[in-house]
Amino acid sequence: MFLKSTGKAVYSAPMAGYTNYAYREFLRMFGGVDLIATEMVSARSFVELEMRGSELPSRLWGVQDEPRPLAVQIWDNHPDTLSQLAQRLALEFKVSVIDLNFGCPAKQIAGRSGSGSFLLQFPDRIGDIVRKVAEAARPVPVTAKIRLGRTRDTINAIDVAQSIEDAGAAGLTVHGRTASEMYHGQADWEEIAAIKPKLKSIPLIGNGDIRTVADALFRLYHYPVDGIMIGRGGIDRPWLFRQIAQALRGEPITPEPTATELRDIIVKHFNLLKQQFNDHTALILIRKTVCHYTMNRAGARIFRNKICSAKESSVFFRLIDEFFGNKLSADYE
Ligand SMILES: Cc1cc2nc3c(=O)[nH]c(=O)nc-3n(C[C@H](O)[C@H](O)[C@H](O)COP(=O)(O)O)c2cc1C
Repeated sequence: MFLKSTGKAVYSAPMAGYTNYAYREFLRMFGGVDLIATEMVSARSFVELEMRGSELPSRLWGVQDEPRPLAVQIWDNHPDTLSQLAQRLALEFKVSVIDLNFGCPAKQIAGRSGSGSFLLQFPDRIGDIVRKVAEAARPVPVTAKIRLGRTRDTINAIDVAQSIEDAGAAGLTVHGRTASEMYHGQADWEEIAAIKPKLKSIPLIGNGDIRTVADALFRLYHYPVDGIMIGRGGIDRPWLFRQIAQALRGEPITPEPTATELRDIIVKHFNLLKQQFNDHTALILIRKTVCHYTMNRAGARIFRNKICSAKESSVFFRLIDEFFGNKLSADYE
């Protein structure tokens, strides 16, 4: 339904703390993403805020008005709580896709909240959640994102995937690690591939460790997946999606941004962040992003230490000027 006819869909992953409105705008600017996702939104927070007549959770900032297609990812362990948010997102916000998080291994989600990857041990409970949320969200498609299982010894992604499909999900994304592996080791694409023949018709999106155009093409052409999802690779290089789309169309690939282009990108990103956040928060977020952008640049370690202690945007942009050798700070004084 939301897959390209080529069967080579490229999605951007939901990432808490990163895939906010500014990042999503950025991805739209570069192009090449078939479906952009928000950060995961707590359905419980939404319901509690609604009961108090308060504002929406901050992670829904921008969602109502920004361009589609857009997937909003939600989490909780209670079908009714999730359905309440799903219905609002579907009927009022008219988002393109609602994605259910059954993969998060973080303690706050999978521990005391009994949500995310905690639920992987209960394929029937997951099925029950998907069924109720899909009913509540109709006609908006509901998808799910999972990991391979809780641990290497208890991999059960096929059972979970079948339960998700039978309950009426429109698609499934699988991150090729178990919850206990967190982000260690390599994503296991053989385990992702093993799920495909067990699904009847829903698209399977593979996820994990795609950092380059070559990684993307390899995963798309060598594994039986209908698409790929990219997380950290897009934080480091949001232009990666455009490069992948160009490669898939057989076009020349736009080179990596020059230092001048990178400075422009940083300024644009900061200004977009300031639409949502106050100066202080926007500065913290842009510092984090610049650390990603400069990961493999000569001398970047010292530079990163310096910018991470910049408390004013003028200081931050002066450091950017020093590093990139240009006069940019004037705009920020
Ligand atoms: C900082 C961070 C935040 C994340 N937040 C989410 C989230 O909100 N929802 C989710 O389903 N996965 C989340 N993930 C997992 C990613 O969506 C993705 O599955 C994982 O990073 C593997 O893909 P990658 O190797 O392309 O990054 C997060 C990952 C990171 C590193």
